[in-house]
Amino acid sequence: MRRFRLAAISISTLLASARVASAAGDAAAGEVTFKVCRTCHQIGESARNFVGPELNGVVGRKAGTVSGYNYSDANKNSGLTWDEATLTKYLKTPREVVPGTKMAFPGLPRDSDIANVIAYLKQFGPDGKKL
Ligand code: HEC
Repeated sequence: MRRFRLAAISISTLLASARVASAAGDAAAGEVTFKVCRTCHQIGESARNFVGPELNGVVGRKAGTVSGYNYSDANKNSGLTWDEATLTKYLKTPREVVPGTKMAFPGLPRDSDIANVIAYLKQFGPDGKKL
């Protein structure tokens, strides 16, 4: 019986720490995940529009507003703001959140990868400097 109780306690401790990690996101792990985005997106002080728009300051940015980037109408007129909740849904299934988007990326299947990549993106201000 005692052993069961101990096991139950350590499992709930594990679950609690996993919840904290996924709510906050791990920016260092997100930098690794961002490698898949880097095929098309740049971020940081020297970032330019590439296949996709540069992502400096994207968390909290209105969709379709990077100057000089040729967005699809679907993205430009989506009316979305890339807050954390919207980004979380978008990065899971981009084509469901923005039907007709030209972002040719199926989405990140793992919630932890999404939380981590958002934590990474959040570090960069609109000028590409780390906040
Ligand atoms: C194969 C290329 C490609 C990959 C990989 C890719 N994207 Fe994109 N992304 C695009 C394109 C192209 C657009 C512009 C979509 C449009 O105009 O419909 C876009 C748009 C976006 C937008 C909307 C930006 C805005 O200003 O409205 C966000 C946010 C975004 N991508 C994040 C990501 C993240 C984070 C990843 C990695 C997990 C990623 N993308 C992977 C090509 C890509």
